[in-house]
Amino acid sequence: METRIESVTTGLESSIATAAAILLQGGVVAFPTETVYGLGGIITSDIALQTIFAVKGRPSDNPLIIHCHSVEQAKQYVTRVSSEWIKLANKYWPGPLTMVTTKASHVSSTASSGLSTIGIRVPQHPIALALLKSVGVPIAAPSANTSGHPSPTTAQHVWDDLHGKIPLILDAGSCAIGIESTVIDLSVFPPIVLRPGHITKYQVEQTISQGVRTTEGNHSIPKAPGMKYRHYAPYAHVHLVTTVEEATLLLTTLTGKTCLVSDNVEFTSSVPRYELSPASLYASFRDADKKGYSDIIVLPSPDLQEHDGLMNRIRKASAG
Ligand code: TXA
Ligand code: MG
Repeated sequence: METRIESVTTGLESSIATAAAILLQGGVVAFPTETVYGLGGIITSDIALQTIFAVKGRPSDNPLIIHCHSVEQAKQYVTRVSSEWIKLANKYWPGPLTMVTTKASHVSSTASSGLSTIGIRVPQHPIALALLKSVGVPIAAPSANTSGHPSPTTAQHVWDDLHGKIPLILDAGSCAIGIESTVIDLSVFPPIVLRPGHITKYQVEQTISQGVRTTEGNHSIPKAPGMKYRHYAPYAHVHLVTTVEEATLLLTTLTGKTCLVSDNVEFTSSVPRYELSPASLYASFRDADKKGYSDIIVLPSPDLQEHDGLMNRIRKASAG
């Protein structure tokens, strides 16, 4: 299969129409969101959903996130909306927040991997919203990468992983946020942040006037099905260090081709450097792989070490 990349900035209406037509026939397309690029298929087509799992090489027990164009549309796919759900939807949708709650019985179990719950979000990216409105039914969309690779934040990243496997990639440049949405499970009490992201635990707590739990360091809470898999990882070995001293020491022990990903201005070395930020983390991992680095040292500044979403992705990339 030939994979076409279409720039939506030059032919907005026709690109959306082409993508919508493919989706409505049960095909899959990659499209931009404000977090990362997604690989979409309509949730009313089991063929489309199965194609998503097959194209990504995704384990079938890892449920997909459903994307809707509005709060009103999202309501049709869950059984009951709690006051927390309403508060968070009104405050953060459209935006990078996925809420897990009990699914309506008509939602395909392929999308939810057989679970009784479903994760839904209304994305903020204008192209994602235009596509959702044009199609009229929700679009299931995991990140458009091969399972286990870093999520794609440009159309080129999608092409690198999935060319020959999907017909179309809508290209709208780099994703502004760069890490995947915050996932909060509202089907349990108190709610649990299953995946940290741009919207913080604190913001969620402020919005619903209630404490929420996190899975980090808490082994009694089951993780999101997807979180048990090694994720976000480049081929190179990722070493997370938190101080200049650690980075200096590590550099003396590494013998392979090594680069640095850091925003810490106090660390100086002759090693090639990528600037660290949530928006550019995955792009730096992918570029380091293309350039053949065997080792990547990641040194976040004290400020970035406070960013739960970013630190979660770096830790996952450095594990195993
Ligand atoms: O930012 C994002 O969320 C991107 C863009 C494309 O919207 N999508 C994305 O999807 O990151 P994916 O499939 O790569 O990650 C979905 C995560 C997985 O960790 C999955 O296990 C979890 O959400 N998840 C989905 N449905 C769930 C459910 N019913 N219960 C618990 N976790 C769920
Ligand atoms: Mg993913």
